Amino acid sequence: NIEAQNARESLYIVSEYAATYFANEMWTGEQGRAIGLSYFKERGFREDIVKKFQLGYSPDVWDALIQSAVAAGHKEEYLEKTGLSIRNDKGKLYDRFRGRVMFPIHNFTGRVIGFGGRTLKTDKNVPKYVNSPESDIYHKSNVLYGLFHAKKAIRDTDNCYLVEGYADVLAVHQAGIENVVASSGTSLTTEQIRLIGRFSQNVTILYDGDAAGIKASLRGLDMILEEGLNVKVVLFPDGHDPDSYMHHVGSGEFKKYIENNRKDFILYKASILLKEAGTDPIKRAGIIRDIVESIAKIPDDIKASIFIRECSGLLQVEERILLSELNKIRVAKF
Ligand code: CTP
Ligand code: MN
Ligand code: MN
Ligand code: MN
Ligand code: MN
Repeated sequence: NIEAQNARESLYIVSEYAATYFANEMWTGEQGRAIGLSYFKERGFREDIVKKFQLGYSPDVWDALIQSAVAAGHKEEYLEKTGLSIRNDKGKLYDRFRGRVMFPIHNFTGRVIGFGGRTLKTDKNVPKYVNSPESDIYHKSNVLYGLFHAKKAIRDTDNCYLVEGYADVLAVHQAGIENVVASSGTSLTTEQIRLIGRFSQNVTILYDGDAAGIKASLRGLDMILEEGLNVKVVLFPDGHDPDSYMHHVGSGEFKKYIENNRKDFILYKASILLKEAGTDPIKRAGIIRDIVESIAKIPDDIKASIFIRECSGLLQVEERILLSELNKIRVAKF
C-alpha cells in the first residue's frame, strides 16, 4: 500500500529532522552547550560517543521543535503522529520534549524512529525519562536501543551484552565494547530476544545491581532460555549499573570485571537464591526446584541435560533426582 508507505516515510523523515535539530541545539545552541553538552561531559561521556549516538538537547521552550520543523516545511500532522508534539484540549500543539537531553532511538537499519529524553533536574516529581509513544514506525516491543551500532560487533564476537538503559549502552561502548543493546523502558520481550537471535545465540545480561535489576535479570534469563539462546549474567556490586560502574572504576577495570564475573545462569541463580535462603533446608529445596524450572525452559534436551549435571555438582544433589524433577515439570507443561 503506497499511501501507507508514504505516510510512514514522512514519519521517518520528521524523526530524522528532529534528531538533527536536537543535536544542532546541543552543539551550537547557547542553552544546549551550557546545559546539554556539559551534562554529558560531567557524566564522563566522551565527545565521540555523544556524536556517534546522535545525542542532543531539546530547548526548554513550549514549541521550539515545532517552530523549526514547520519553518523547514514539515507538517504538524507528522510531528503529532510521531509523538514529538502533543495537541492539548484547546487544539494547541506543543513539544513533548523540553529541556531534556535527547537519545534518538534507531531501528536496526539506522533510521530514527523515536526518542528518550532525560531530565536534568534532580526533582523527584519530574519523570527521569520521557519516551516517544508507539507510532506507525515505533513498536517498542520490537526495538533494542543501540542495535544499529552493535549488530556487527554482536556477530563478530558472537555475544550480545544486554543492559537496562540508554546511558549503559553509551558507557559500555565507551569502554570499547560495542556489542551492547538496551531493552530500555519496556521489560524484555520475546520479540527483542528473537531480534538478538538474528545476530548471535549468546546473551550476557548486565542489568543494574539493585533489587529491580536482579528481579528483571531472573525473569529475563528464563525468557532467553525459552527462546533457545544461551545466557550468562554479570552482577554489579553496590547497586551499580554498567554506566555508574564503568565511570567508577574506569574502562580497563570494567572490562576485567565483566570477564571475571560472568556467571552462567545456574551459578547466577544459585548464588542469588542461596544468599536469600541461608541454611534453611526447606528453602534450599525450593531453590533446587526453581533452578530446575529454568532448565526445563531449554528446548534442547542435550543442553538441558548438561545443565542438570552442572546443577547436580553445584548443589550436591543427585543427578537422577534432578532429572525426575525436570521430567515432572515438563509433563506438567503439556
Ligand atoms: N526508564 C524510562 N522511564 C523512567 C525510568 C527509566 O523509560 N522513568 C527506562 C530508560 O530507558 C532507562 C532505563 O529504563 O534508561 C533504566 O532505568 P534506570 O536504571 O532508572 O535509569 P538509567 O538508565 O540508569 O538512567 P541514568 O543513568 O541516566 O540515571
Ligand atoms: Mn506495538
Ligand atoms: Mn534501574
Ligand atoms: Mn540504571
Ligand atoms: Mn544509570
